[in-house]
Amino acid sequence: MQVYLDNNATTRTDPAVVSAMMPYFSEYFGNASSVHGLGGGVSGALRLARRQLMTLLGAPQEQEIVFCSGGTEANNTAIHVALETLPERDEIITSTVEHAAILAPLAWAQKTRGIKLRHIPVDTHGRLDLDAYRAALGPRTALVSLMWANNETGTVFPVGALAKMAHQAGALFHTDAVQVIGKLPIALAGTQIDMLSLSGHKFHGPKGVGALYVRKGIKFSPLLRGGHQERGRRAGTENVPAIVGVGAAAALVDSAAWSRMAALRDRLEAGILAAVPGCRVNGDAANRLPNTCNLAFEHVDGEAVLNNLARAGIAASSGSACTSGSMEPSHVLRAMRVPLNALHGAVRFSLSAETSEAEIDYVLAVLPGIAAKARERSPLWADHLKAVNFT
Ligand SMILES: Cc1ncc(COP(=O)(O)O)c(C=O)c1O
Repeated sequence: MQVYLDNNATTRTDPAVVSAMMPYFSEYFGNASSVHGLGGGVSGALRLARRQLMTLLGAPQEQEIVFCSGGTEANNTAIHVALETLPERDEIITSTVEHAAILAPLAWAQKTRGIKLRHIPVDTHGRLDLDAYRAALGPRTALVSLMWANNETGTVFPVGALAKMAHQAGALFHTDAVQVIGKLPIALAGTQIDMLSLSGHKFHGPKGVGALYVRKGIKFSPLLRGGHQERGRRAGTENVPAIVGVGAAAALVDSAAWSRMAALRDRLEAGILAAVPGCRVNGDAANRLPNTCNLAFEHVDGEAVLNNLARAGIAASSGSACTSGSMEPSHVLRAMRVPLNALHGAVRFSLSAETSEAEIDYVLAVLPGIAAKARERSPLWADHLKAVNFT
């Protein structure tokens, strides 16, 4: 049996999305900017995709979507906008648990532009330290960039309240919502969020396409220059099939699937916790994405568990896909002060609306044995036994 539980890394492109995209490779291949008929049909398709995303986001104006190549570009653009439009302010607030697609461009801004970064810490459940956030905000804050939900633990930040606080300090508020789209309801119209990043491949759309939502009235400065596409906000001929695909994926999001997904996740989690001793949940169990379960097996090498799961046909991850394969413990779990004996034993299971009961049953049948074997063979376990016997 093949079980895919790595949906926070990427999702399967929905076959209906692929079907929607296909004609835009062959039949309607025109450039949206062309005045002839082929371009006309294409610009209508772009308009539809924009509307489909706006509907999903609960946002009021269709011009507020800027299509781009994905979450990474959307994040880089948001930071660029703040640096260019608020030059009199020289501080940016973020958190210690953001994705590298925020942390790395911010570190670059610090190095090249002398921006002062303030990384707000989280508690052991991954919840933002609100007192530290309040204290960090001030007249020098240009931008606050805080993720809506964490890709490793699924912990959700209260972005509505955080955006309000940012505005009280006169700062722009951006959220990396890449992991939230298609998993939790979004209603941007009632919020003070200025910019929001999303990525198609995280909600059954194609890879290499995403968008930056920019609230109407926000001053903008393009990251990519050289063309008038996206009303001058992102130069370069539009990737029409991908944009059609991300729009179709947005239209397919079905909130009715979320409670079933959460129930399956809860069953998976409870089953593993009951069957594997020395196992803990990483993240805020009370306020989490409905699809994410990050578990730490104490005195176990998580990579060994993952490799054996892969041999059994089960795809999971040790944290963010970008850091898996390296032995560096996740910066998110370190920020949450996960104890040393559990830091290397983290495994993330991320479900989708496609996950079935039978798949969860299969994981529950094989995982306890795999975890027990990995623990027996782990030098961390041997060290632990030595320490216990010694005392
Ligand atoms: C929270 C978060 N932000 C940004 C990204 C990057 O998105 P993309 O792969 O579309 O560049 C990811 C992808 O893993 C993510 O999880």
